[in-house]
Amino acid sequence: MPDVPSEAVPAGLLHRVQQLQRLSHPASTVTRPCRRVAGSLTPRAVAPPPGDDLDRFADLAYGYRTTPRGVARHAASAGAMYPVETVWLAGGPEGWRWRLHVPERRGCVDVGDATAAATALGLRTGQWAVAVVAVAWRTVQRYGVRGYRYCLLDAGNVLGNIAALAVHAGTAARLPDRMPHDVVHADLGLTADELLLAVVVLDAEAAAAAPTGPSPTVDGLGTGWVVEHPPLLNPALHRVRRLHGFAEPAVQPAVDLAELVRVPGADAPGEIRRRHSARAFTGTPMPSGVAPAIEALQLRLAAAVRPPLRDWLALRYVAPAGEGWRSRWWDPSTGTWRAAEVPAPSPTCRIRMFGQQPIAGAASAFLLVGMTPDRSDTGLSVYRRLLLVAGLVCAEAYRMAVRLGCATTVLGGFDDEAVAALGGGGFTPLVAQAIGVPEPAADLKNDTVAAGWLSTS
Ligand SMILES: Cc1cc2nc3c(=O)[nH]c(=O)nc-3n(C[C@H](O)[C@H](O)[C@H](O)COP(=O)(O)O)c2cc1C
Repeated sequence: MPDVPSEAVPAGLLHRVQQLQRLSHPASTVTRPCRRVAGSLTPRAVAPPPGDDLDRFADLAYGYRTTPRGVARHAASAGAMYPVETVWLAGGPEGWRWRLHVPERRGCVDVGDATAAATALGLRTGQWAVAVVAVAWRTVQRYGVRGYRYCLLDAGNVLGNIAALAVHAGTAARLPDRMPHDVVHADLGLTADELLLAVVVLDAEAAAAAPTGPSPTVDGLGTGWVVEHPPLLNPALHRVRRLHGFAEPAVQPAVDLAELVRVPGADAPGEIRRRHSARAFTGTPMPSGVAPAIEALQLRLAAAVRPPLRDWLALRYVAPAGEGWRSRWWDPSTGTWRAAEVPAPSPTCRIRMFGQQPIAGAASAFLLVGMTPDRSDTGLSVYRRLLLVAGLVCAEAYRMAVRLGCATTVLGGFDDEAVAALGGGGFTPLVAQAIGVPEPAADLKNDTVAAGWLSTS
């Protein structure tokens, strides 16, 4: 997979991709039966994890947790398909090594020499790097071409956890502007269907100070594997491979992760442990602390994302105001808050705009992340980078919900035009976050855990 596209990016490709990933497009029809898909690194992970700081850090960032409905993981994932793998690059007595995080084993298992990648990244002794890789078929088997968007959003959620834990420990996780995509891809021996989505660098010694505590026991991890291999000729997977190649995968989003995730008084480990997607809301007005916390997030994001990427990013908070609803956002170009009054969407209308999801009807507000119209040739590259940023915003919103005692769920399935209109227009939505008051007695969430193989029960 090339650092820069080897063929010219076809004109109008971004527009085509945006059409193909729509809820209503046949290329993105949801397939119900899904099977477990192995990554190519898994068979190499033979030795037990050493049980060190890296194991504990990786397990907290993206390990398993027990929920009333079975096993889930510490980062949200569309349909709980968990396409993202993290492969950690760390130095030790045997030099630079790659260590795959194996959630079933609660740690990271050695999968090979990492000298080439460590050199290309310019790593110093005492640093870690994390390669965030999506085993695309895990998600594409269910969502078709739309699965590409979900892989990137999932990766952003995982990156958000890693960054929050690093900052909590007093160090910064850093996304180099360019990553040595081809070197890391080759070094790991990834297949064309394993998309290298991001590489983050952090100061291991400080990160190891994160008070992760002992990992709680997780019962009922699935063991009986029926493994599906990615079909070579699947048209959706073929499109995803090609469009990732066209999207300049070596160029990383220009985001200061520390600036985005640093929240006074936050307890990243506790928030990540308690994070979950809401299953229902009461529909009652939001507690008063939520709007200011969202405003603070909007300001942090504007400060963290560097232009020109920032100019293409839309982050809108839409909530009832008076008789109607109001979409409110920070405009960094003028340094002012802007707002658009929108007609109050009835619960039925909200359910419909989110592809018949009843949970949307009882949400008290929505946080929408989108992309403003962009006519440059780099459209697909910008789209890919903004999806990672959108995933980071989701991770922030989940941790904010834990802090404030409100409830939230990512909504990735929606009617693009209707959600853009809800946000006041002028952007293409990438993801929505429904926010509300938790209703523990109900379960209105459609998108249940499709990945039934996570647990034995
Ligand atoms: C990119 C993305 C899209 C999602 N889309 C939806 C959705 O449309 N509807 C929904 O109910 N949940 C959605 N979710 C939430 C997942 O269903 C949820 O993260 C998963 O089931 C695991 O549960 P947990 O978040 O409680 O750990 C989405 C999550 C992500 C990351």
